[in-house]
Amino acid sequence: MKKLSSMKLAATLGLVIAFTSGTAAAQDLVAGQQAFEKFACASCHGADAKSSTLPSYPVLAGQHADYLLHALRSYKRGATGSTTVNARNNAVMTAMVQQLSEADMQNIAAWLASLPSDLAVRR
Ligand code: HEC
Repeated sequence: MKKLSSMKLAATLGLVIAFTSGTAAAQDLVAGQQAFEKFACASCHGADAKSSTLPSYPVLAGQHADYLLHALRSYKRGATGSTTVNARNNAVMTAMVQQLSEADMQNIAAWLASLPSDLAVRR
């Protein structure tokens, strides 16, 4: 019995690891860069995502992917009129994210996080 349950645990852990790495691989860095260019994000945040055209436009390159994805989803929530702490309301960004799909946001966040920058510690 004991042996069986540890085998079950190992199988479950294997599934969790496979699922997690599958999700990461699903994020396409090239598609992220293409979406960033296609939706004119660079016109404010800069082509390298760190040479913003105005100081009020935040540096995105090298920021953590999960933070960026959370931010983009929060602007989307804001557009629905949600007033939770997980909703952001900003005239510019709330409009910008309307054209992005969930996959676009995941790819963009992954690409931005992969860029060299002083924002995050490189490993
Ligand atoms: C017209 C200028 C402009 C354009 C175009 C623009 N942004 Fe932004 N972006 C901003 C501003 C201003 C903010 C800060 C908004 C705030 O205070 O919440 C911001 C914030 C962000 C943030 C949150 C950063 C953080 O540190 O919390 C992300 C992520 C982001 N933009 C991604 C994008 C993406 C992706 C696109 C293209 C689809 C885009 N932006 C297009 C001006 C712009």
